[in-house]
Amino acid sequence: ARATIGLTGLAVMGRNLARNIARHGHTIAVHNRTTAKMTALLDEFGDEGDFVGSESLEDFVASIQQPRAIVIMVKAGEPTDAVIDALVPLLDEGDIVVDGGNAHFTDTLRREQALKEKGLHFVGMGVSGGEEGALNGPSIMVGGSDDAYEKLGPILESIAAEVDGTPCCAHVGPDAAGHFVKMVHNGIEYADMQLIAESYDLLRSVAGLEPAEIAQVFREWNDGDLESFLIETTAVVLDHTDAITGKPFVDVVKDVAEQKGTGRWTVQNALDLGVPVTGIAEATFARSLSGHTEQRAAARKVFDTEPEGAPLDDRDAFVDDVRAALYASKVVAYAQGFDQIAAGSDEHGWGVDPGAMATIWRGGCIIRAQFLDRIKEAYADEPDLTTLLTTPYFANAVTEGADAWRRVVATAVGAGVPTPAFSSSLAYFDGLRREHLPAALIQALRDNFGAHTYARVDRDGTFHTAWAGDLSEVES
Ligand code: 6PG
Repeated sequence: ARATIGLTGLAVMGRNLARNIARHGHTIAVHNRTTAKMTALLDEFGDEGDFVGSESLEDFVASIQQPRAIVIMVKAGEPTDAVIDALVPLLDEGDIVVDGGNAHFTDTLRREQALKEKGLHFVGMGVSGGEEGALNGPSIMVGGSDDAYEKLGPILESIAAEVDGTPCCAHVGPDAAGHFVKMVHNGIEYADMQLIAESYDLLRSVAGLEPAEIAQVFREWNDGDLESFLIETTAVVLDHTDAITGKPFVDVVKDVAEQKGTGRWTVQNALDLGVPVTGIAEATFARSLSGHTEQRAAARKVFDTEPEGAPLDDRDAFVDDVRAALYASKVVAYAQGFDQIAAGSDEHGWGVDPGAMATIWRGGCIIRAQFLDRIKEAYADEPDLTTLLTTPYFANAVTEGADAWRRVVATAVGAGVPTPAFSSSLAYFDGLRREHLPAALIQALRDNFGAHTYARVDRDGTFHTAWAGDLSEVES
């Protein structure tokens, strides 16, 4: 056996990851259920490094040095289980099975447990950066045992993106920690994209700019605090003209946003953990709403008039307000995502270091952004941070942007342009900083109709009022 690592599942992500590994001087065994994909890889890219191709799973496993490290790059869910089931009987104690797909972290928990009982390591590995990242340097979030990382870490760190000489790859924690963090990464990706989409909508529908002009605005924004892959990519997409119609490309794409599940899982898990990830939730629901085409058509028929917004008296000022609102909302979305990572880590005892996550998200991944450096610094200054929002840099950004944020949300409401992510992020900010929340009334109502009890501001203990009787209060 001469390969130091193996990879099965040679669709575009798997193929690019395999090429990346080979290009970094590691001998890699490759396999695909349909052999043609494996031979095509060797034919086209075989000279990029040392590949060992096998047609059968048995030969593939036999071509890898022990303890073996085998990366699975197939669709999440059932297909992943099928490959694991086929592989396991061929493996020896101490071998490492790596799932590089977007698995649900509870599947990873289950698989890790099952393989551990067989003396095997199971590593749930989050890989971000799309096709391009897989080939030229992704951000890699690795779960699993220390022993497994000891063997895999050097290979993965060599193929990951790098920022300031630091690889964008880390051992996040045991079992499902890596896939959990990747899930939240994707949730933040949803929020980021929704905020960008709302900004575009406002610049077009309220400020009256054309897509190419908006592309220019995004290019300018990309020179400041907002500098990020998604802002840069938005400019590229908005500049693109459809070859068939000559129209802006964004006008020929159907306005129905799809999703494969990671954003939804983030929200489902946040509900279980009780973490208000309002930006991510609104972003996910906005995608759902876009998909309800029948309801949308029915609503357009009945409510056919667009509300008349007040005309803008200063377009440049509005554009700058949108930039500030976008930044403040983005800070909220990331703060919420990091809260969820902390809560998930506590729940499962993973010991995730949030600063390390900010560090490995600075390059390679879809949400890579200049301001992750600020998040990294915030955690370096204060590892047990209560919320990112109150750290000096972000508190300042949100405070400075607050007036613009309110003006943008108010203008959007007036113009009938939906901005669920902007609005909910602002509501979250206002909710957090409010001296008194109307939650007091909710507690009183709960006690009234269900004797659910309440706490008092002036005394310790749990109380109930005899609402149906003499209105006396009893301590319970
Ligand atoms: C990444 C991306 C990648 C993909 C997601 C989102 O980090 O490289 O997040 O994993 O874009 O699967 O997909 P959906 O938008 O289809 O849910």
